[in-house]
Amino acid sequence: MLGGCSWGQNKATDASTGKGQEKPSNSINNSIGKQTSQNNTNHDLLLSPDNFNQIRVVNGIKMIENPSNILALVNKDYSLGDYKPNDLVRPKVAFSFGNQDIEKSYMRKEAATALEQMFSAAKKDNIFLYAASGYRSYTRQKTLFDAEVANVGKDKAAQAVAIPGESEHQTGLAMDITSETENFLLTEKMGEHKEGIWLREHAHEFGFILRYPKDKVNVTKYEYEPWHFRYVGKKAAEVMYKNNWTLEEYFQHVKKA
Ligand code: DAL
Ligand code: ZN
Repeated sequence: MLGGCSWGQNKATDASTGKGQEKPSNSINNSIGKQTSQNNTNHDLLLSPDNFNQIRVVNGIKMIENPSNILALVNKDYSLGDYKPNDLVRPKVAFSFGNQDIEKSYMRKEAATALEQMFSAAKKDNIFLYAASGYRSYTRQKTLFDAEVANVGKDKAAQAVAIPGESEHQTGLAMDITSETENFLLTEKMGEHKEGIWLREHAHEFGFILRYPKDKVNVTKYEYEPWHFRYVGKKAAEVMYKNNWTLEEYFQHVKKA
């Protein structure tokens, strides 16, 4: 599974790290703000070098050296190691498990504030959301992965649960979201219910993306998860939303500013 990269494999550059990419040509620089395609301005597609994964290969595993990057691409190809964010806070939102002060109720500060704003806006539209699972340590991910392997075997487990080090939950930037309609569980049906639809249509306004869409399983390498939202900031979320790009696809299009 590790190193089993398929997206971008045939490219000359490593999309998430931008390695091998050149600075934009003068003609591109001179046309900042003009449309590059139907959807995007050049400004949309230029990113600070700090927003690309910086990678060190250890025993064949690509380790992310700048894991606190808000745009960190964490997937079956890029590992966080045992990183723990240093600005975890507890968002002031409703939780599916009540008020327990437990690890999974935490998120990084910027993401937590955005989550609070998203939940308040949803409420105004009569959509009542509940946070179910945010930050997850390497150790906790190992427990979950091992339990899934025991239940369904390794191959099936890997389609649904990340191996330790490779979960976005470890960044503190992801939140699984549920509702009373789902009986406070994480279900695929959520994508057809009003809460899942609201989130899919509005999350980008608050800087979140639906990270594992139904039609992108071949890109993300994970099953559809209508409940899993990842904070990337408003600008990037807007670009991904309007282009129907996953984070993997976004990094195939952006360039270093
Ligand atoms: N379920 C997602 C892929 C995770 O384990 O991070
Ligand atoms: Zn999740």
